[in-house]
Amino acid sequence: MVIFAREHVFVSREDLVERGVASVKTYEPFRIKDLELKNRIVMPPMCMYSAPNSVVTPFHLTHYGTRALGGVGLILVEATGVLPEGRLTDGCLGLWSDDQVPGMADLVKHVHDLGARIGVQLNHGGRKCAATVERIYAPSAINYGGNGAYRDPVEMDRDEIARVTEAFASAAGRALEAGFDVVEIHGAHGYLVNQFLSPLSNKRLDGYGVDFEGRSRFLQEVVRAVRTRWPEEKPLFLRVSAEDYVEGGMTTSQLIRIIDPVLKDIDVAHVSSGGVTPVPPPVYPGYQVPYSERVRKECGIPTIAVGLVTTLDMIEEILCNQRADLVALGRELLRYPFFPLNEARKRGIALPCPEQYRRAFS
Ligand SMILES: Cc1cc2nc3c(=O)[nH]c(=O)nc-3n(C[C@H](O)[C@H](O)[C@H](O)COP(=O)(O)O)c2cc1C
Repeated sequence: MVIFAREHVFVSREDLVERGVASVKTYEPFRIKDLELKNRIVMPPMCMYSAPNSVVTPFHLTHYGTRALGGVGLILVEATGVLPEGRLTDGCLGLWSDDQVPGMADLVKHVHDLGARIGVQLNHGGRKCAATVERIYAPSAINYGGNGAYRDPVEMDRDEIARVTEAFASAAGRALEAGFDVVEIHGAHGYLVNQFLSPLSNKRLDGYGVDFEGRSRFLQEVVRAVRTRWPEEKPLFLRVSAEDYVEGGMTTSQLIRIIDPVLKDIDVAHVSSGGVTPVPPPVYPGYQVPYSERVRKECGIPTIAVGLVTTLDMIEEILCNQRADLVALGRELLRYPFFPLNEARKRGIALPCPEQYRRAFS
């Protein structure tokens, strides 16, 4: 059942300026490859730990469906394991088996019917896997540290690297089957891809370590493998951590250099930070926006800015000053799922809204 109003009663920029309404870019459409988003607001991936069998449950339909009803342009589904040991916990979603496709396909259809686009974040947790599995893997056999919650990982040999690379590709094929609009490779927050990139977690002396070329090799192979199953006309996003916040770790300059070889195959960089070590980032409103701005400018690629963005004015500042092309609101959307529609209404911007709620928004 399609319940979203079809007509787009968008007020022109001139109209808004005349009425003294500054904010508008947030609600302009964004197009990349075959994806058209109705606005620039993204729900970033957020683990819900609510999939006891790693498949979609009614909770996920309600959770993501509510944000779609609330007017979010693009929903990125939480970190989804490409293998059982790629999950972060036993409650994380997975796409390593064909049995997991129907649930995801239901979720995609549900969100589409409610008027939003939807992508899935494919992940392997590496040394930060806390799921019930026999062993966990990492580029080097170094414990994550922190509060002792993590086990010692086994260093991946070439067969294991090839197996995981193929798992990313197969999961992308299943994402396509389920109907997702976007695949995002999780290359941030200290999970496996990020563990290969960072000199703090990658101490390998073979072709997958040592220098920039070696440390970026796993990422290059994953991106290339995913592209064999995820069609060229569909956008592929890469989430990155721009800073490790630790002496000797990655900086934005290093990140820009290390992702250079994959830029031709990815369409959007989703710029976050931290996670390779337990050292917390210094957080304040918009703390990661400068990283997005640099990646956008120096890599020449569209970006998503994220991190303590909580107001429409902040989104407008980021977009109009060309610091990002899209803006993700995580916790704010957990608190206020109807943020996009409500903020538009406050400024007199008429958006398509759920037919059933027309009397509340007209
Ligand atoms: C409950 C929760 C779960 C999260 N899970 C993920 C995840 O699965 N993948 C990911 O890349 N980031 C994850 N994050 C990080 C968010 O995507 C986002 O980058 C972060 O919350 C900062 O944005 P915010 O200040 O708008 O919340 C999670 C954050 C929260 C609050």
